[in-house]
Amino acid sequence: MFNKRIKIKEVIGLDQELNDVTVMGWVRTFRNNQFIALNDGSTNTNLQVVAELGLFEDTLLKRITTSAAIKVTGKLVKSLGKGQNIELKAVSIDILGDSDPEQYPLQPKKHSLEFLREIAHLRFRTNTFGSVFRVRHSLAFAVHKFFHERGFLYLHTPIITASDAEGAGEMFRVSTLPLDNPPKDANGNIDFKEDFFGKATNLTVSGQLEGELGATAFGEIYTFGPTFRAENSNTARHLAEFWMIEPEMAFHDLEDNMNLAEDFIKYIIRFAIEHNLEDLSFLDQRLADEEKLLPTDKRSEMSLLEKLNFVVDNDFERITYTEAIDILLNSSAYKKKKFQYDVKWGIDMQSEHERYLVEKHFKKPVIVTNYPKEIKAFYMRQNDDGKTVAAMDILAPGIGEIVGGSQREERLPLLTQRMAEMNIPEEELWWYLDTRKYGTVPHAGFGLGFERMVLFVTGMTNIRDVIAFPRTPKSAEF
Ligand code: 4AD
Ligand code: MG
Repeated sequence: MFNKRIKIKEVIGLDQELNDVTVMGWVRTFRNNQFIALNDGSTNTNLQVVAELGLFEDTLLKRITTSAAIKVTGKLVKSLGKGQNIELKAVSIDILGDSDPEQYPLQPKKHSLEFLREIAHLRFRTNTFGSVFRVRHSLAFAVHKFFHERGFLYLHTPIITASDAEGAGEMFRVSTLPLDNPPKDANGNIDFKEDFFGKATNLTVSGQLEGELGATAFGEIYTFGPTFRAENSNTARHLAEFWMIEPEMAFHDLEDNMNLAEDFIKYIIRFAIEHNLEDLSFLDQRLADEEKLLPTDKRSEMSLLEKLNFVVDNDFERITYTEAIDILLNSSAYKKKKFQYDVKWGIDMQSEHERYLVEKHFKKPVIVTNYPKEIKAFYMRQNDDGKTVAAMDILAPGIGEIVGGSQREERLPLLTQRMAEMNIPEEELWWYLDTRKYGTVPHAGFGLGFERMVLFVTGMTNIRDVIAFPRTPKSAEF
């Protein structure tokens, strides 16, 4: 067996002297031909490996370069040096993989995040990305743990669909027809009957509609999978491929939905604080260092960890859309014409408006409910006022919209009326409408954008830095 190693995270937690310890990892630095800082990805803390002078051949020592992969066996001893409690006195060192220092693009110094995006295949080997992706892992694990503990069923909804769940038309087509010469029907239109699925298909924008089918049998389900949006938004908050968590619950109204969403967000943040404190402390410091470069009024009032603890310990603010618009209209920002986009009842709030509400006015996460029906999807439940729907968005400081959800329209006539108004053909969604015919129930659900959640928890500011290989307009490298 080759892999008889101890992970560095475990090694640095040991406080007794120990013989015959084997570690494997990638060299971060090699100082004075003697001290190797070794990292294996289990933690940002490097293990100090000491290659005693005279014990190893020069030819071997020359190959201990940044990012070379090595295997070390030796004795774990108390360290006399500063910065670590223990170190590994090497007895044998094997080079598993060389790394040419002339060519290797990552030097042991600070690189810009923009540069690291260009070498996203290597950026996991930096402290920042090590921490971000370990936190991302924990959050994903906590998502499953939360729903599993509450008896939700994990439903795998399809990636390829023939429907546009959000009705926003932002879909990537899936087709095997020849692009240069597609078959045409009698009217000269592309004939999708000839296509692989016998109809036009696309990558899913949301698993919600299928999720509702599950909820109306299992009671409570959630999805957690990739979703795709061909919206041409080149912002620090949008990806063309992102991961979404979508719980859907029978016998839930809008308030139950909000309560669940708030509990859920707090639970996964708490999980990360409990399991990733070392990484979060590193990211906390990283953010503090970044913000030192900003003018004082642009800096956050709380550190990253203070912010996370604050969110976990305090209730989210809950307001209606109408109240939100009133707050904006009465704000000094509006009166001093500081908003780029106009404010009036009926607008789809822009991120500047959302950020004003959370960052300036309430200074905490805000749940906004009961939006005008014109700016929301066809499936949202109509309120009695005839103007609004039982929608809810959760807005987070520094992020803006992090959750979108609603109580669903369970009344068939009202649902089909809304679909007709929005030109959504009933034939395409016959299966969806069946749930309203056979034992329809009040139900609700929401979608949490996973990368926006990871942004919030890690304090990173660009969504491209919290997903391994970002897909954005004009960019699909790796
Ligand atoms: O608000 P959205 O479009 O809602 C839905 O898709 C519903 N079907 C969800 C549901 O009720 N089951 O998207 C939900 C969330 C947003 O709040 C945002 O966090 C995230 O998904 N999101 C994106 N994240 C990254 N890049 C994009 N292009 C995103 N679009 C939406
Ligand atoms: Mg939304």
